[in-house]
Amino acid sequence: MTIPFDEWAEYNASRAVRDLRPLSARLLELAGPGEGRTAVDIGCGAGVEVAAMLAAGWRVHAVDGDATVAAHLAPLAERHPGVLEFRHVEFGAVEELPPAGLVHSSYALPYAEPDVFARLWAVIRAALEPGGWFGAHLFGVNDAGRAEGEVATYLTRAEALGLLDGWEVVQFEEEDAVGPSFVGPRHWHVFHVIARRPG
Ligand SMILES: C[S@@+](CC[C@H](N)C(=O)[O-])C[C@H]1O[C@@H](n2cnc3c(N)ncnc32)[C@H](O)[C@@H]1O
Repeated sequence: MTIPFDEWAEYNASRAVRDLRPLSARLLELAGPGEGRTAVDIGCGAGVEVAAMLAAGWRVHAVDGDATVAAHLAPLAERHPGVLEFRHVEFGAVEELPPAGLVHSSYALPYAEPDVFARLWAVIRAALEPGGWFGAHLFGVNDAGRAEGEVATYLTRAEALGLLDGWEVVQFEEEDAVGPSFVGPRHWHVFHVIARRPG
């Protein structure tokens, strides 16, 4: 089944205050100050990572299919006038993204079903500028969601690495273990990926 957006709204409300995810923190550190460059956050949720990008001087283009995200981001847009654009859009309808020095997606991109994922991946590859940074959590084939029939894109290690072809792989960590989740312990199979398009 596909996770409905009212469930994502509940999830996002519960995660509006939390620490920056470690991968996101490392990605931002590696990418350096935004200095007016554009960052894209795909499936941005309540905007914890968007806030960090804005604080680091990035212009931010955020997309999410949960309509409640706009309200989460509104205070950030007020604090950083003119540099945050939010698009309420489903992944399947994202046909282009702005040229970006940073593309980030934490625990969101895999929720695109395989054909949508493939199209969105092509859009991401086209948007990432030379020298640009990419960071995301991608799901592996042993993830509990797959056994439970959750519609998402589950990749083998080789497939995940193949997506990064031609980019410098800076981090590729594989988690394949039980860990906590919003609804209790679950088996996570996740690739924690940071890569850079050569300049
Ligand atoms: C697990 S949450 C992650 C949110 C945030 N990036 C974080 O790290 O907390 C997944 C996010 O992806 C969004 N999402 C899931 N499927 C989507 C789809 N098909 N189109 C657009 N957004 C989607 C949800 O609304 C949700 O905000």
